[in-house]
Amino acid sequence: MLRVLVLGSAAGGGFPQWNCRCPVCRLAWAGDPRVRVRSQSSVAVTTDGERFVLLNASPDLRQQILDNRDLHPRVGERDSPIKAVVVTNGDVDHVTGLLTLRERQPFALFGTGTTLDVVAGNTVFGVLDQGFVTRHELVLDKPVDVGSGLTVRPFPVPGKVPLYLEGPSLDIGEETENTIGLEVTGGGSRFFYIPGCASVPGWLLDAVEGAPLLLFDGTTYWDDEMPRLGLSDKTSRRMGHTPVAGEGGTLERFARAKIGRKVFIHINNTNPILVEGSPENEAVRAAGWEVSFDGMDIVL
Ligand code: MLT
Ligand code: MN
Ligand code: ZN
Repeated sequence: MLRVLVLGSAAGGGFPQWNCRCPVCRLAWAGDPRVRVRSQSSVAVTTDGERFVLLNASPDLRQQILDNRDLHPRVGERDSPIKAVVVTNGDVDHVTGLLTLRERQPFALFGTGTTLDVVAGNTVFGVLDQGFVTRHELVLDKPVDVGSGLTVRPFPVPGKVPLYLEGPSLDIGEETENTIGLEVTGGGSRFFYIPGCASVPGWLLDAVEGAPLLLFDGTTYWDDEMPRLGLSDKTSRRMGHTPVAGEGGTLERFARAKIGRKVFIHINNTNPILVEGSPENEAVRAAGWEVSFDGMDIVL
């Protein structure tokens, strides 16, 4: 068995975002039944229901653990089914949950050298005692045993440096250690996890072809979603995220792909696919995509 439990299906900020009154967040604030609240980007993977590997650690991790009984401590005085964490970039929504995992609990942390350096360079992460939290460098395109019966193959995808490290020489779409996708294998199956991806090149379509499951960047529906709402000058691509719709968007690029299940994850609070029954939600479903939600439990 390979089980993927979605802990957080939203992008950075979660849904609704604390300070946002965009049309989609307004529905959430009003308790509209067409939307459900979502926490920030993370999944838990297991092959035995006992040991879990987290893919990214969101600032909502404490609540995600409370909400998922399988992640509660089980035996003795101190315990956690969380045996390892693999991070795909150094973004706030993907690493700050590590701070929740302090208190001298052993686990293994996996990331590229670049991302581990970002974490090590920020002294607040020193609360993760090196004697308990072992750091393991992911080498691009080299599969690694992350424990719990799981192997992870990290590979670079189009991306950029974390927002808080952006400088004048920003290279959006670079395929480097800054932003990786993961092919996760174990329990007799496999899947791809790519929560951030600035474009969908042909090599990526080839790589995921035939996979039983793809969890993919569903940050925005439109490239100009944020500017159109007057919330930001930045397009989706400028933020390092392929839009779902439009020319070169995810729906178009994956239109002929043969993949068992295609699931959007890391969905921004502005994205109308979060509204059940909206034309955009209908459009992605018609194209064979699912919209993930917190607690979505996928068994392969
Ligand atoms: C992103 O996915 O673009 C980042 O999480 C943005 C952020 O750091 O808020
Ligand atoms: Mn993010
Ligand atoms: Zn919003």
